[in-house]
Amino acid sequence: MREETIRSGRTRIEWARAHMPIMERIRARFAVERPFEGLTIGICLHVEAKTGVWVETLTAGGAKIRVTGSPGSTQDDVAAALNEMPGVVAFGARRETYEEHLDHCRAVLSGRPDLIADNGADLHGLIAVEVPFAGLKGTLRGATEETTTGGYRLREEMPPFGFATWVINDTRAKRVVENRYGVGSSVVDGLMRATNLMLHGKTVVLIGYGYCGSGVAQRLRGMGAHVVVVDTDPMTRLEAHLEGFRTLPFDHALPIADIVVTVTGRTNALDARMLALLPDNCLIANAGHFATEIDLPHLRALAVETVQVREHVEALRLQDGRRIYLVAKGNLINLAAGDGNPIEIMDLGLALQSLSLEQLARHGRALPAGVHSVRADIEAEVAALAVRAWVDEAPAAA
Ligand SMILES: NC(=O)c1ccc[n+]([C@@H]2O[C@H](COP(=O)([O-])OP(=O)(O)OC[C@H]3O[C@@H](n4cnc5c(N)ncnc54)[C@H](O)[C@@H]3O)[C@@H](O)[C@H]2O)c1
Repeated sequence: MREETIRSGRTRIEWARAHMPIMERIRARFAVERPFEGLTIGICLHVEAKTGVWVETLTAGGAKIRVTGSPGSTQDDVAAALNEMPGVVAFGARRETYEEHLDHCRAVLSGRPDLIADNGADLHGLIAVEVPFAGLKGTLRGATEETTTGGYRLREEMPPFGFATWVINDTRAKRVVENRYGVGSSVVDGLMRATNLMLHGKTVVLIGYGYCGSGVAQRLRGMGAHVVVVDTDPMTRLEAHLEGFRTLPFDHALPIADIVVTVTGRTNALDARMLALLPDNCLIANAGHFATEIDLPHLRALAVETVQVREHVEALRLQDGRRIYLVAKGNLINLAAGDGNPIEIMDLGLALQSLSLEQLARHGRALPAGVHSVRADIEAEVAALAVRAWVDEAPAAA
């Protein structure tokens, strides 16, 4: 059984590797230059096949790795395969709770990493408040943070750290390529896989029309859905309107929804008052980083009966008689019900991570401490690598 699980994880990683030419190029250089020789990298990023290829790349550069994923998105077979790689320890499981996830983050940090690659700022959060990890503020060479939500948390909620944290999400490359195009397509894929329902003709209310939301809106429109945009920012609503989407205040939008998708990066974007407005048989899903975008404690408190009707869909019968379908327990639908963003897209995103960590390893504490964007020359290099792989050297260009 265990052997089978490991084999399945390796097969997934092989498929991803075969479609990640940018990572291959970086791995070849890292294998010669060994920028991470003698260093340990602590990682919190969705443990799935593309992350597996990235871990191989970092180990080729000499790194030892301690890695964990996020609740609901870990592919257990990939975690098993990673644990078989020399120099790699993987924690985490698909069915873990958020508290268990934090324990896995603690396990990552207890290896006293020299660099961290964070997602949602969970590793930073522990370093900020837990005594056993406080010493890392003085020893870490630097950190990366992958996502929008982590960027918000680092800038709005956390004290300064003594090292540099580079926010991958600040780059146009990540926001446009991954958030808009990657999340746009993978959320539609996740919705379809989870439900096996037709999107054509459905009214989908999208809460949040930022980089991710605008991509989701475009792809849903392509599938024939009627997209209604809800956003707290008037300028963003204007943009959605000019793009040809209907945009309504939430009290007008929610009662007409067949499907609601949250993708704001904020807690309770679908709160108790809004849940009361949903029509019978409405399906709700989240694509934002944390499952807290939907007020799940309130929803579950309203439920008199919950039935698992498909692998990723629960039907909740509420006290007032309505039935609400919750997808993937409110976890990011594209990762929980699907395989996350397309492989090629993550090839670019993980290249940004790799080259950023390389610079942090080489220059570490000589770099300005605090939360910064990735350097412009790194972004330009990654964009050039992507153009070479996807356009200039793509088979169709030959
Ligand atoms: N599922 C994935 O694979 C994936 C990938 C990248 C990012 N993310 C996550 O998706 C979320 C959104 O990221 P983004 O890059 O699109 O962010 P963004 O900042 O570009 O957009 C967020 C939008 O939500 C709006 N908003 C904020 N609070 C709101 C509220 N209460 N109600 C309605 N609208 C509200 C904002 O005005 C903004 O337009 C984040 O949590 C991010 O971490 C998920």
